Amino acid sequence: MEHLSQLRRLGLFDAKVPRYTSYPPATKFSNDVTGDVFRSWVGQIPEGSAISVYAHVPFCRRLCWFCACRTQGTRSDAPVIAYVQTLLKEVENLKAILPKGVKIARLHWGGGTPTLLHPDMMRSLAGTITDAMPLTEGAEFSVEIDPNEIDDARLTALADVGMNRASIGVQDFDDDIQKAIGRIQGYEVTRDTVEALRAHGIRSLNADILYGLPHQNQARIAESVQMLLSLSPDRVALYGYAHVPWMAKRQAMIPTDALPTPEERLNLFNTARRLFLWDGYDEIGIDHFARPTDSMAVAANTGHLRRNFQGYTDDTCDVLIGLGASAISKFPQGFAQNASATAQYQAAVREGDMATGRGHIFKGEDLWRGRMIEMLLCSFKIDSAAIIEEFGVEPAALSQLYSAAATAYPQMTRTTSDGFEIVEEGRPLARMIARAFDGYEMRAEGHSAAF
Ligand SMILES: C[S@@+](CC[C@H](N)C(=O)[O-])C[C@H]1O[C@@H](n2cnc3c(N)ncnc32)[C@H](O)[C@@H]1O
Ligand code: SF4
Repeated sequence: MEHLSQLRRLGLFDAKVPRYTSYPPATKFSNDVTGDVFRSWVGQIPEGSAISVYAHVPFCRRLCWFCACRTQGTRSDAPVIAYVQTLLKEVENLKAILPKGVKIARLHWGGGTPTLLHPDMMRSLAGTITDAMPLTEGAEFSVEIDPNEIDDARLTALADVGMNRASIGVQDFDDDIQKAIGRIQGYEVTRDTVEALRAHGIRSLNADILYGLPHQNQARIAESVQMLLSLSPDRVALYGYAHVPWMAKRQAMIPTDALPTPEERLNLFNTARRLFLWDGYDEIGIDHFARPTDSMAVAANTGHLRRNFQGYTDDTCDVLIGLGASAISKFPQGFAQNASATAQYQAAVREGDMATGRGHIFKGEDLWRGRMIEMLLCSFKIDSAAIIEEFGVEPAALSQLYSAAATAYPQMTRTTSDGFEIVEEGRPLARMIARAFDGYEMRAEGHSAAF
């Protein structure tokens, strides 16, 4: 109780805090990054280097009411065909400016629902991408799979083009909860998808589930987690349901009076967490779990875990290129995001242009503050020596930041001889504590950027 009231006092249950899948968060992007800036950053990718590529498919056959992803529902194939043709053209435009010998170490297709593509479209998209940038030996190719929107022809096509990892959306197995969130998906459908993926040679399988859903209680989440454990996923993302109806209009269908209270949310998370730990999973950062042999757990245990737009990754490539409407690219120089509106994105690409709409050019303290936030969300600690060595930051600047964060979050944080850490009791506040290192948020609140 004491712990709960401390968390409440420090603002856990009211806070609207970025997820820090990038720093600065995409909400802070501006128009500084144009197609010309993007082109110059692509031109500076070292010849022969290995990069990551993300392709975004912003369409779904059904629109689940709970979903806050930027995606559009379509029954017809026409907009999907037109969109994939634009993706192919975008890859051609990119190929024309790409330095020689660039290869892909990580390829990820996300959405929306990339598995609504027809098998032929999957083959031509993968073929065009790998013709422009071949996969490296041992490359990882992962795809987000909706178990309701996959069949053997599409699985075979994905396996043929090299998919070796997959992520499936589960959310919750309970019937009442599924009805309340507008996503019906029987256990058998999920189980059959998992078995089919394994039969097609998938080495690492992730499942997304949610806590904080309407009608969810301790017994129901325990039951759902146990059903998920029976499928033995290699990784699990346990996300807190974000209820943001002002952004995701379809969430107006969610019965708000059936949503758990903030305290109940925390208990739901803890119940699920305990079950994963009992079953032998390692806890990864703020909301992931992985089998100890999975590469994400290995990365976490060896200090190689990173934060990215999918949450966590063991990908250490310096460059990520995002293809498709609203996709974000990351370079050592900054972020570039494609136009979010599909029509605007398609118009730019068809004219042979880059579809860059906005982004952020790294400056000042961005890189080291971003790395500190990443360290906190990956391992709950900041290693001062690593920050000083990598970025040449003055130790006094770090000490000032640590003491401001420790004053704001007493008993939840600790300054140590190595740096700064969030103690076990403070972990539910990790994103809030990370925000104390965010120069943009602090400026917005009237604090000095440099502390
Ligand atoms: C882009 S969706 C792709 C999954 C795929 N389309 C499917 O439905 O299986 C990725 C994940 O985002 C998560 N997600 C979507 N809306 C969310 C929300 N409002 N709060 C928290 N997580 C959410 C879900 O767990 C979902 O599986
Ligand atoms: S959860 Fe998946 S299928 Fe449902 S609307 Fe979101 S992206 Fe589409």
